Amino acid sequence: MDRRRFLATTTAGLGMGLAAESLTQDAPPLRLAVIGTGGRGTGLLRLALTFPEVQVPALCDIHEGRLNNAITLVREARGAAPEGYSRGPLDYRRLLERDDVDAVLVATPMQLHGRMSIDALRAGKHTLSEVAAAMTLDECWGLVRSERESGKTYMLAENCCYYGQNLAVRNMAEAGAFGELTYAECGYVHDCRALAFEGDGTLTWRGELGRDHNGNVYPTHSLGPVAQWLGINRGDRLESLATMATPTGSLHRYAAQRFGADSPQAKIDFALADSTSTLIRTARGAVIDLRFDMYSARPHPSTTYFTLQGLTGAYSDTGRQQEVWLEGRSPQYEWEPFAPYAGEFQHDLWKRHGAQASQSGHGGADFFAIQQFLEAVREGKPSPIPAADAAAWSSIIPLSAASIRAGGAPQAIPDFTEGRWRAAAG
Ligand SMILES: NC(=O)c1ccc[n+]([C@@H]2O[C@H](COP(=O)([O-])OP(=O)(O)OC[C@H]3O[C@@H](n4cnc5c(N)ncnc54)[C@H](O)[C@@H]3O)[C@@H](O)[C@H]2O)c1
Repeated sequence: MDRRRFLATTTAGLGMGLAAESLTQDAPPLRLAVIGTGGRGTGLLRLALTFPEVQVPALCDIHEGRLNNAITLVREARGAAPEGYSRGPLDYRRLLERDDVDAVLVATPMQLHGRMSIDALRAGKHTLSEVAAAMTLDECWGLVRSERESGKTYMLAENCCYYGQNLAVRNMAEAGAFGELTYAECGYVHDCRALAFEGDGTLTWRGELGRDHNGNVYPTHSLGPVAQWLGINRGDRLESLATMATPTGSLHRYAAQRFGADSPQAKIDFALADSTSTLIRTARGAVIDLRFDMYSARPHPSTTYFTLQGLTGAYSDTGRQQEVWLEGRSPQYEWEPFAPYAGEFQHDLWKRHGAQASQSGHGGADFFAIQQFLEAVREGKPSPIPAADAAAWSSIIPLSAASIRAGGAPQAIPDFTEGRWRAAAG
């Protein structure tokens, strides 16, 4: 669409690639199992149970208390208790053998998502995975291959792609509002130090992540929306990256303050840098500046931030305010508040489901992570965030670590679409 036509166009018909129908009361049953019924798994399970067609025959967690809470939740919602699986870390495989399970939600610690999702697809289950999708390139490829070979739906539950403002920016980008896109800046900057330890001082999975890995270990909340704006794997692709990291110190300091300078916690040798910055180049030459920081002391509320730059317009979301500037429409040299644009370019998903969605977590975005998966499975539509996208976004984890190890040297990002990104433009 040329720019003049775009500026004269209203929202009608613009960039509605994700249009969805409401789920209906008479949809056929969908039998969903959950692996990992901790905070996130239980939250998403609760949301799934608001869809009448969802039945839950089985749940799995190695922690019996959390498993029993989730079993009670399902029993109260559906009248029948699901079978629980809690005989150790591989018991999920017994659950996957059931032939009365159509789909699986994987909401275990991040380090387990890749293996469990591959196993679920290979067992013939549609799979919805929490973020990130995988920790290694082998797992990334494993997801792509098992999705293809199984013919089942795989979706990454990247809720940040479904924030109202992020979908509105996607509509604008797809309609050409910013002109050709050249640059984006985004980051996940969230003080998670308190989540690294249990009350008794043992490390949580988030703490183990920081102990065992360096690099950007949580890239998808920030990169996911940007990749969708830039048409990554749909006309462009992530091609290479280089990462620089600060020293590690903030979590150590926190551990010493909380548990004592001589405590075992204060002696843990954490691998994760306080902050990492990754520069990504796309095949078409756009640049993404991606920051990750989970341990620096800072106010809690802002977690993600975004900037998008095109030849004729720009968008900025600091996490506290969103602004936009469009050549020929905005006053010269002056940012405009984004709110009127968010209304004008509201995505069809929010028009259809906004009232229901806004009751869910993360600004209503959590609703769509479930709703879009159920719709794709029920209607046999392409996954909104398939394995190739999940793999490209998650490959930042091992590749940023490799770049840091190599002194910031560029690393090639595999083409997980195996060439299909060129044909998938538009
Ligand atoms: N999208 C979001 O906004 C968002 C928010 C929070 C968490 N998350 C993601 O959700 C995932 C879970 O996070 P959480 O905060 O719920 O953590 P959590 O620790 O509360 O829950 C994880 C659960 O997995 C269970 N588990 C561990 N190993 C298992 C195994 N082998 N088999 C079965 N169960 C196992 C644990 O006992 C625990 O109950 C993480 O990957 C995290 O990144 C996403």
